[in-house]
Amino acid sequence: MDRSNKPSAIGVGASLPQPTVSLHENKVEATLPTGESVTVHLFGATVTSWKLANGREQLFVSEKAHLDGSKPIRGGIPVVFPVFGTSQNHATSSLPQHGFARNSNWEFLGKSSSESLNKDRKEGDDSVKLDFGLSHTLLSEDFRKAWPHEFALVYSVTLSKEGLRTSLQVQNNGSQNFEFQVLMHTYLNIEDISKIRINNLESKTYVDKVQNATTHTESQSALPIVGETDRIYQALDPTVPIVVSSTDGNKPLFSVTREALNDVVVWNPWIEKAKAIADFSPDEAYQKMICVEAGSVAGWQTLEAGDSWEGGQLIRAGL
Ligand code: BG6
Repeated sequence: MDRSNKPSAIGVGASLPQPTVSLHENKVEATLPTGESVTVHLFGATVTSWKLANGREQLFVSEKAHLDGSKPIRGGIPVVFPVFGTSQNHATSSLPQHGFARNSNWEFLGKSSSESLNKDRKEGDDSVKLDFGLSHTLLSEDFRKAWPHEFALVYSVTLSKEGLRTSLQVQNNGSQNFEFQVLMHTYLNIEDISKIRINNLESKTYVDKVQNATTHTESQSALPIVGETDRIYQALDPTVPIVVSSTDGNKPLFSVTREALNDVVVWNPWIEKAKAIADFSPDEAYQKMICVEAGSVAGWQTLEAGDSWEGGQLIRAGL
């Protein structure tokens, strides 16, 4: 695959502490010298674990998540592409819910670290970037038939002390334009859904899928989750963080800033839906997660033949 941002090799010879990266049983694991770690399954390039230096897990993964490639992984950060939900009368309408990216085996393209980017560092590396690729040649025949475009995706997962960055580059290598939607379906791990609020959505327009996809304006400055929630907040300023805070001392728990991802989906299945989703377990785990999903899903991105597009998010935790 042609890649403009091919990672350079990690430098050798330094006695400074280095991140460790391993590829084992179809998952890539990276740990920083300071103790932060990340795990990415090649199936879906799904981030399934992100731990801080204190060992605390920041992402929720269902106990019944399928990790064998038989279904998209229920938890972590599934990548949604090229369609959010399902579509009608569109080139993506034969694809399954949320597209094929979370349902396909990606390849590991390599790693790069801050050491290779900044040769003068004295303290060793404090970040590591893992790159994953998916292109039409790697898709199953069914997916290729359902969406016959020549494309390449490069998904970069960067772990640093600052947080976890995920960014996606979409390349159109064919001779026809195509349209796509994209979303990073992040399941954040929380202690208690009744004790969180979501900030910085006030006065924003959202489509509420729980209310027949009607359009509303957010009136609350700090949104509590008190029932099934499935909202697409639209046309946000991506540089303004969405902050998940705890009502215990009004403490920020997570902040999510975005680049070129101007929509944010807030999803929690609540009691009945959690029971109805076969791979969501335990039933009460809806209290332990909130999905804050950075995306471009309200309309379609058009990518001209030969062009590329890039978008991403930075999640900070333990603030
Ligand atoms: C959210 C959608 O992004 O994902 C919800 O807004 C959907 O409507 C949820 O229920 C989970 O989707 P899935 O396909 O992983 O069960």
